[in-house]
Amino acid sequence: MLCQVCLCCLFFSRGFYSCRWTESNNQNRKGRWLSLLVVTLMSLLSLCWLYICLAISNDQQNVNEVLFSKLKKWANYFLVVVIISAVLASYCILLLLFALIQVALEEQLHLHWLHKIIFCFCVIFITALASGISTKGPEEWPTVLTLLQATAPFLQFGAVGALTLLSPFVFHRFHLAKTRSKMVIAGMFLAVSAAIFLCPLLIHSPCLIEVQELPEKPKLIGHRGAPMLAPENTMMSFNRSLECGVIAFETDVQLSNSSFSKNRTAFLMHDHGPDFLLRTTNVKSSSFNNRTDLTFEQLQTLNAGEQFLKNDPYGTVSLLSEEEKETARKQPIPSLLELLEFAKQHNTSVIFDLKNKETEEIDTNDTVKTILASGIPQNLIFWLPSEEREAVKKEAPGFIQVYENETDLEKNNGSHLNVKYSEIKMKNISDLRKRNITVNLYVVNERWLFSMLWCAGASSVTTNACHLLKEMERPDWVMPRSTYLITWILVDISSALVMMALFHWTKHNLHHNADGLSNDNELEGFLTA
Ligand SMILES: *[C@@H]1O[C@H](CO)[C@@H](O)[C@H](O)[C@H]1NC(C)=O
Ligand SMILES: *[C@@H]1O[C@H](CO)[C@@H](O)[C@H](O)[C@H]1NC(C)=O
Ligand SMILES: *[C@@H]1O[C@H](CO)[C@@H](O)[C@H](O)[C@H]1NC(C)=O
Ligand SMILES: *[C@@H]1O[C@H](CO)[C@@H](O)[C@H](O)[C@H]1NC(C)=O
Repeated sequence: MLCQVCLCCLFFSRGFYSCRWTESNNQNRKGRWLSLLVVTLMSLLSLCWLYICLAISNDQQNVNEVLFSKLKKWANYFLVVVIISAVLASYCILLLLFALIQVALEEQLHLHWLHKIIFCFCVIFITALASGISTKGPEEWPTVLTLLQATAPFLQFGAVGALTLLSPFVFHRFHLAKTRSKMVIAGMFLAVSAAIFLCPLLIHSPCLIEVQELPEKPKLIGHRGAPMLAPENTMMSFNRSLECGVIAFETDVQLSNSSFSKNRTAFLMHDHGPDFLLRTTNVKSSSFNNRTDLTFEQLQTLNAGEQFLKNDPYGTVSLLSEEEKETARKQPIPSLLELLEFAKQHNTSVIFDLKNKETEEIDTNDTVKTILASGIPQNLIFWLPSEEREAVKKEAPGFIQVYENETDLEKNNGSHLNVKYSEIKMKNISDLRKRNITVNLYVVNERWLFSMLWCAGASSVTTNACHLLKEMERPDWVMPRSTYLITWILVDISSALVMMALFHWTKHNLHHNADGLSNDNELEGFLTA
């Protein structure tokens, strides 16, 4: 017997799914299963894509900056993509739900052509973005694998739950099928169940450790200062990062001519090459393509804070008080010397990139001179640029030499490594730490990623979000391996028991209804009444 609610449900799902309000016939069984398969695949695809977006959100700033450099216009492109993806995923899942309701009630499935068009759009949208990420954008796929490590145990529990909930549909089909199809259905169902039940054997996560084995919390390094709380690479930004207790300021150094003297001046700015002023200063047009067109005195007249308030690159401007906004609005481009004096005063280290590779030799020379002249203790400088490293070692033996990859580190017998978090395996981080090598990872902004690196034993991370990571007292989760083992076995066993009960229940139900009215007739009665 069909309840009124079920009939209503059916009425609306059919309306939404196929834009038909009364029942139609003449669809063969193959057509129905094909329709269901398409909707299921689309739901899975859109969910996977949403998951990838979640992983990439750690690097959203990077994505937006890459797109800015191409399109010359600031927008939160990443957020737009996430919103569209979330809408598409909800839509696909709603359709799947409606399809399942209709299948459960032995209904026909006619996918309306409008849905087919949206599906095509969805596939094109996802394929285009995914290939964009693979070819043009920053290398992001390892980040997805790290998010998998962070979430695998919970995804497995979710998959077991979903399998249990969906099993009655399969059992129902099984009971109705002929012997041959019965074997196919049973075989496929058992294979999928076994894979889901046993996949914890393959799950490795650095956070599957005893609580007392948890390493010390990684220290924080402010990426261009605290760019979520102040305009990047300004003195205000470095000042605010001090409030998070950072151990070092990360910045970017370039050199400009001076109108007063022969000496060049080192200044702090990330973007370089054509239009290097466009993103962070109030220069509107592309009139200055080359840093050598401008003297440092001219650079100092520019405003490096207004764009932050206008573009709100992290959506965090609302966190600033009126007073802080006023300060931000007045920020000029700082010189390296200003930062070194500030760092010396606060006993904080400095680590930086030299941005212009083509002039790295003379840039290195002038930068080292500036550092030595500032009187900052040499051991507060983490020296990163690799080009002229040997010369720098001679001139400033007190600098701490930091290497950009494991090969370079081993070759030079170094003790400090600075790599992108996705370019090193979690296992290697623990191994290097056991050898007392300091490992810094950049750029780490999300809690889940910070948690993983904390469990793996990272010494420090470079971050945009020092105010958020500072608050964390422990990783998002830490679970002893033995506890996890017991938990997943218990979850698997309960699911298996529930599914056995459901198997018998569906069989019993089927026999019980065998003599009843056909569902189709009953619905027809409801609709014409
Ligand atoms: C900038 O100017 C310098 C010297 O005038 C020149 O050597 C260099 O190629 C220019 N760079 C760009 C990107 O135009
Ligand atoms: C600076 O900090 C280091 C450790 O961060 C400490 O060992 C050193 O004594 C400090 N120096 C001064 C002058 O406070
Ligand atoms: C490691 O870094 C050095 C110096 O930057 C570079 O020359 C070398 O190609 C890098 N090696 C790898 C494997 O990336
Ligand atoms: C690492 O440092 C600790 C303490 O500073 C020391 O006890 C240990 O022997 C060192 N390990 C290695 C491999 O050098």
